[in-house]
Amino acid sequence: MSLLKLVYYPDPVLLTTGKPVADEEFNADLAQTVENMFETMRTAGGVGLAAPQVGISKRFFVMDIPDEAGKGNPLAFFNPEIIAVEGEQIGDEGCLSFPGLYQQVRRDMRVIVRAQDVKGDRFEMDVNELSARCVLHETDHCDGIVFLDRMSPLKRQLAKRKIKRLQNTGKWE
Ligand code: NI
Repeated sequence: MSLLKLVYYPDPVLLTTGKPVADEEFNADLAQTVENMFETMRTAGGVGLAAPQVGISKRFFVMDIPDEAGKGNPLAFFNPEIIAVEGEQIGDEGCLSFPGLYQQVRRDMRVIVRAQDVKGDRFEMDVNELSARCVLHETDHCDGIVFLDRMSPLKRQLAKRKIKRLQNTGKWE
């Protein structure tokens, strides 16, 4: 396993829609990339990481949200599609491509997501709360959307000011 280099906002790859993962791409190389992404995510202290955040312009992401007992639950989603949403949650959100920035974001409370696993098999998952927030955040990354785009105009303005401050103090890499 090896650590991958994280890409920070405003790198263009974060603002570009990823290419779908084709059937013939589900192979050992892809599985290795997924393992490397898990390791990179854990080392950086995140619960979700999308391919564009390590410079790969493709539609997939990994997520590992521990259960109440603290047990991990590593999952990989390829070609994710949000097929239904319900309810609302408002809470602080962070992103490994925005180091040090946490800001309030409104998200759906419950999400049904359809995707493929690392072998290319299709599955559907019904998630809520933090897992729903993470699935929405990471699916956005696959589509070139960052959480800045999901903030209210006021919060976005505050966030942009804070990003400038972090960049000026050299804390943005
Ligand atoms: Ni993110």
